[in-house]
Amino acid sequence: MLFNLKLFAKTEKISFTNDSAYVKFLLDSDTISKEISKIEKDLKLTFPKRLVNNFLSEKGSELKYHHNQSPDLIMINKVKFDKYFTADYFRNYFAGLIKSIKEENIKSLQIELPEFNSLKKYFSDESYLHQSVIEGCYLGNYAFNKFKSDAEKPKQLKINLHTKNSAKLKKTIQETENLIKAITFTKDLVNDPAISLTPKSMAAQTKSNLTKAGVKVTIFDEKQIKKMNMTAVLAVGGASDNPPRFIVMNYKPKVKTKKKIVLVGKGVTFDSGGLSIKPSDGMIEMKADMAGAGAVIGILYAAALNKLPIEVVGVVPAVENMISGNAYRPGDIVRTSSGKSIDIGNTDAEGRVILADALEYASKMKPDEIIDFATLTGACVVALGQNAAGILTHDDNLFTQVSNAGYKTWERVWRLPLWHEYHELIKSDLADVKNVGPRWAGAITAAKFLEYFVDENIPWAHIDLAGPAIHHKLNNYTDTYETGFGVRLIYEYLKQQA
Ligand code: BES
Ligand code: ZN
Ligand code: ZN
Repeated sequence: MLFNLKLFAKTEKISFTNDSAYVKFLLDSDTISKEISKIEKDLKLTFPKRLVNNFLSEKGSELKYHHNQSPDLIMINKVKFDKYFTADYFRNYFAGLIKSIKEENIKSLQIELPEFNSLKKYFSDESYLHQSVIEGCYLGNYAFNKFKSDAEKPKQLKINLHTKNSAKLKKTIQETENLIKAITFTKDLVNDPAISLTPKSMAAQTKSNLTKAGVKVTIFDEKQIKKMNMTAVLAVGGASDNPPRFIVMNYKPKVKTKKKIVLVGKGVTFDSGGLSIKPSDGMIEMKADMAGAGAVIGILYAAALNKLPIEVVGVVPAVENMISGNAYRPGDIVRTSSGKSIDIGNTDAEGRVILADALEYASKMKPDEIIDFATLTGACVVALGQNAAGILTHDDNLFTQVSNAGYKTWERVWRLPLWHEYHELIKSDLADVKNVGPRWAGAITAAKFLEYFVDENIPWAHIDLAGPAIHHKLNNYTDTYETGFGVRLIYEYLKQQA
């Protein structure tokens, strides 16, 4: 955390105290220079001509003015509805702003929330517009300082959000703070290095945090995994001194629910590639190979904290893919709990192997739908970059709804095909299915492999988040740390399903 944030909903006229900053948005229009004059009048000051001219020019986007009275800092942002404007605008802006004021010695922010009326095209409702502002502040405030000896103690920062209906805003603040609590937990898990985050510690942390929120967490250790005949999980996890765990989370609200959804997440705490070892460049990010599990854990946490009226189960196979005398090998044939056999062509395609057991387990619960999350393939990142996750499903309705939640939350998904012809590519001469295909269509053959283990009567979607889960420079809130991708997306999706 950079700051210790405290958010308040305000309706009264803004009054500035010492060390405060003022944030306001102006829509790009013919009257914008008049609006600047009005701000000058209201604040009893005159901006330097140069700043105003820059701001008013075509390229100008921000007027940032350091004042020697309160407010000490004024930030006026010009909102332009050009082709670059997106629903992520305010989230991204505030994430950047929070980071930028770290050196400014500001104790409070007075934010005039943007007017919803002119933003209707981009936001379904006013609450979500406000939510995106709040998320931006908190997401920009995130830091993973667990291993920093010289980390500064976070300073207090008070944020007053000014709007017309403060009761509604108060609710939005509360809900969003719960969501952020869950996202922060996810990010802390994904950013934690594998020397510290093992299958066992991931299970223990999940249990202690989620239980408090009302989720029932069951942890199966390696002996119980063996009893359940999940030999695919055991094979992948066999080489590590950190033995596997199988985590099941159950969130069942008190009210009657329409649906039961099972979420499955790939929990590889480190992926060395196994005997089909990765080159160093490919291995460096592999502490994040449990980002799918992290997302599932965070989604369950958020649903429980905000008491969503929908039943959700989380299933996480957690292993470390390492090398030792007990490592599974290329050419091995392993069986899942249902007895289906897998021809191991490459030990680095380990995620799908553990997910096979997990998807069979999920199918047996006979839920209304299954969605799995996995940093599954480099091929998906080659196809889509880090801007979007791949989604593969036969269910058009499920796709549409997740996709819409993606545009709303700006955790976007893009569909890849699951046509039956692709199954040819993972046929094996020796076993029921092979864990790798040829070079082409890697994200699709991985999904076809998973499909083989899902009950075909249950609507299912696979989300490959290998790209957006890992830090990237596309947004102000994703540039330093692993992103926690998927929690905002599926929390919103679940809300729509309830
Ligand atoms: N964990 C990796 C996929 C990955 C790559 C995640 C980049 C995040 C960023 C996965 O287990 C893997 O190694 N997949 C192989 C599959 C191949 C051996 C068929 C890959 O994508 O190269
Ligand atoms: Zn791998
Ligand atoms: Zn992996």
